[in-house]
Amino acid sequence: MAKRLNHCIGVRYLSSENVQAILNTASEIKNGKLSIDLKNKIVVHLFFEPSTRTRLSFEIATQKCNASPMIIDIETSSLSKGESLLDMVKNIAAMNTDAIIVRHSNGGVPYFISQHVNIPVINAGDGYHEHPSQGLLDLFTMQEKLGDLKGKHILILGDIMHSRVAKSNIWALQKSGARVSVAGPKNLIPDVVREFDVDICENVDDILPVVDAVNVLRIQFERQHGINLPSIEDYRQQFGMTYKRQQLLQDHAIILHPGPINRGVELDSDVADGERNVILNQVENGVYVRMALLRMCMEDV
Ligand code: CP
Repeated sequence: MAKRLNHCIGVRYLSSENVQAILNTASEIKNGKLSIDLKNKIVVHLFFEPSTRTRLSFEIATQKCNASPMIIDIETSSLSKGESLLDMVKNIAAMNTDAIIVRHSNGGVPYFISQHVNIPVINAGDGYHEHPSQGLLDLFTMQEKLGDLKGKHILILGDIMHSRVAKSNIWALQKSGARVSVAGPKNLIPDVVREFDVDICENVDDILPVVDAVNVLRIQFERQHGINLPSIEDYRQQFGMTYKRQQLLQDHAIILHPGPINRGVELDSDVADGERNVILNQVENGVYVRMALLRMCMEDV
């Protein structure tokens, strides 16, 4: 049975029923069958890392749910005067706010906050850990385009090590019965992936003809401290989704990317702007999925 969520820290911690309930709610919102009224609710948005899509999408979702988004400017907050994160969030909750959405470069920060406040905390991406709303919107988009994902084969391609999107996708896809493979440079596939029930693929060209979707991940240059990558051109040659590589896919197969895109690195422009990709569908669906998440965390369902 799906039930109200106390928090949304990661897809890993959601039941399959809750995942499907979030997707069903998002679908009803998208099809105009459900409107959400979180009137008088105050949702605090704390973004400690840069963001365009997730930040704006959560702001729009909050407004479309009739709740009030309160955007904290981290630079001018009292953190700059030495206040601790813990004191900050306790003060935010003391003002009778109703939820906190947080993005942070350290994995575990949303969980930490959730242990110290009595309002729902939604993870908008934490370090390498998880990006649950992205995993759920990717799942929603794949279901919309491919139907039931049970038995479908999905490839996650690229920088798996630094990607919280990869982790949330793996959990979300496995809870939906999909088969998951990952591919990328050996030194960007962390050992922990071996603990997931996923296939590790050495040669991307071998697997492209048999998958139903490819989720192409951004090379996270900002997180690659001390990691040796081949040159950008070598990476593109071996793992980049070029037009030539796109032609290896089955006719029905789709290409996803969570954004922002490094054009000419993991994704060529003629693929990023071509008819096989569903990137802007993902962005559109993100608003519905985040509205559904806000509802599941703040309203009895
Ligand atoms: N996909 C994603 O998280 O994008 P932003 O960093 O722009 O939010």
